[in-house]
Amino acid sequence: MTTEATSEGLSNLLHEERTFPPSEAFAAQANGTAELFDRAAEDREGFWAEQARRYVRWETDFEQVLDWSEAPFAKWFVGGRLNACVNAVDRHVEEGNGDRVAIHWVGEPEGETRDITYSELHGMVQRAANALADLGVGEGDTVAIYLPMIPEAAVAMLACARLGAPHSVVFGGFSAEALHSRIDDAGAKVVITADGGYRRGKPSALKPAVDAALAVGESPVQKVLVVQRTGQDVEWDEARDVWWHEALEAADGTHEAHAFDAEHPLFILYTSGTTGKPKGIFHATGGYLVQTAYTNHVIHDVHPESDVYWCTADIGWVTGHSYIVYGPMTLGATQVMYEGTPDTPHQGRFWEIVQDKKVSILYTAPTAIRTFMKWGREIPDKYDMSSLRVLGSVGEPINPEAWMWYREVIGGDRCPIVDTWWQTETGAIMISPVPGVTPTRPGSAQHPIPGIDARVVDDLGQPVEKGSGGYLVITEPWPAMLRGIWGDPARYQETYWSRFEGMYFAGDGAKLDEDGNIWVLGRVDDVMNVSGHRLSTAEIESALVSHPKVAEAAVVGAADETTGQAICAFVILRQEAVAEADEQGEGGDLVAELRNHVAKEIGPIAKPRQIMIVAELPKTRSGKIMRRLLKDVAENREIGDVTTLADSSVMNMISEGLKQPS
Ligand code: WTA
Repeated sequence: MTTEATSEGLSNLLHEERTFPPSEAFAAQANGTAELFDRAAEDREGFWAEQARRYVRWETDFEQVLDWSEAPFAKWFVGGRLNACVNAVDRHVEEGNGDRVAIHWVGEPEGETRDITYSELHGMVQRAANALADLGVGEGDTVAIYLPMIPEAAVAMLACARLGAPHSVVFGGFSAEALHSRIDDAGAKVVITADGGYRRGKPSALKPAVDAALAVGESPVQKVLVVQRTGQDVEWDEARDVWWHEALEAADGTHEAHAFDAEHPLFILYTSGTTGKPKGIFHATGGYLVQTAYTNHVIHDVHPESDVYWCTADIGWVTGHSYIVYGPMTLGATQVMYEGTPDTPHQGRFWEIVQDKKVSILYTAPTAIRTFMKWGREIPDKYDMSSLRVLGSVGEPINPEAWMWYREVIGGDRCPIVDTWWQTETGAIMISPVPGVTPTRPGSAQHPIPGIDARVVDDLGQPVEKGSGGYLVITEPWPAMLRGIWGDPARYQETYWSRFEGMYFAGDGAKLDEDGNIWVLGRVDDVMNVSGHRLSTAEIESALVSHPKVAEAAVVGAADETTGQAICAFVILRQEAVAEADEQGEGGDLVAELRNHVAKEIGPIAKPRQIMIVAELPKTRSGKIMRRLLKDVAENREIGDVTTLADSSVMNMISEGLKQPS
């Protein structure tokens, strides 16, 4: 199987030739410049040293930019000492910006808001740090955080950072079992949680999951700090549980922060691997802070004194860590933090928040954008979104149609879109257009940002030609790179650094177009091999979604006796098309129409063997489609483990609803 085989099938995406050059007005005010590229190309380490001193306050300056002598274990900004919390909070107060709003918090129940200035945040992190210290937390102790999207989540993370206690945030939607394994693996001494949170209009309990997680075996946890959010009843262990508000009230209001080594672990964050045990990715303080602040400034183009920035991710994912907490706060930005879902209590909630808070920079995920498309443009069209000036996308490939919809409907055709590729492991943005500099192209993350070296290589690790596909690798160490897998250095080396000599293999397939733009096609485990041709699921999905009747599509490769793998597509129709399909009984004509559409867009080889019209797709709580489960359906197997699904009934709906012609 050669990578050349992909070129034929990938013509659909790569024939995208629309480009949107930056407007002069935007370029004139942009933080990103062409000089950044030149400077980084001429002296990479010198470039990073400049960013480090520009964005971060060091209590002790570093002596060496990078120590790569024990590759792939990197040390950045060697000898430097800093405190991440001081950088994210105290500094802004000292510099006279204490009255600036740090967080415009919007609760899920309508009308419930809190505005927190940097001075107020400063008071909160000091008390929280003292409260944690009173519970025995000190440098190097790990703390698990299991909270809803409330300001206390950010405060808890920053308070840990202030003490040099690595935090391990576990997404509030994870089960007790998942929480248990993460707490144990990290050896957490304290858990910070809440009585509950709001979910689709109702209080939903959180603390029972912590109680259950700690009831199994011998737990390393000594204390549980509980934020009162919903006021619902909770079980209480007098010896172990402590109310957050009581602890903070009792704690001293001033806390003197110490500086830690640049390489001191800042946090652990578990990512669900494709199989087996989740990996505890850990990040070090200095390099991570430098790259998150730099990218938030240059890629999101945050101007802290005037912008209102909003990243819609949950704090439980890396996007929330880097682009809600550490990046924007190190810059001293003003941001919106929203507790709820996009459709609570109505489908216009996001746009209402944009209008009310005058959001100028919005950072969200393609899956959300496609959902908004499905709901229809009449909804956002009702709101005044003229405050928006930059739009960001992250987490998965964004198909050109969703990109164009985002640009036209949400961005009023005037906002640059930054399609940012990165991972939990990379810590910060790696590949993205630089707004104000790069002419953008719908659907492509385009090029490595200044200071980053990434490439698309073939099976042998050789760079591919323009127009060809291969593997996305990073060829030089970068400041925010993971420092390892918690407690398992061998797995780190093997997972990321063994596929290609001296290069970090990201696990994604990518393609270079004729202009040298990088198109990330998705995980290589989602790449199919059909009759000796390699085809990307993302590409066929993109073709399907480009059909006017399709809202969303997921494609999997199912085992096939003759062709190796065969393409199976699961398709959600747009509202108007659903009625039509119903009229046609099993939707036979429509299926034929869609198959032909894919053949037309990509080539006959990409024609799905099977297209199944479904009402929902199985998604993890972070919104990723679980192709593994779809593969089970496509291969007529018993459906596998559904515990990480946001809604496990979806699989029943799919299996029961399928009476498809093939
Ligand atoms: C995918 C999220 C295409 C990719 C920040 C990567 C993307 C995985 C993009 C990491 C993008 C992320 N275009 N694919 N702009 N951004 N991905 O660790 O497959 O949750 O390997 O980090 O998401 O997901 P993670």
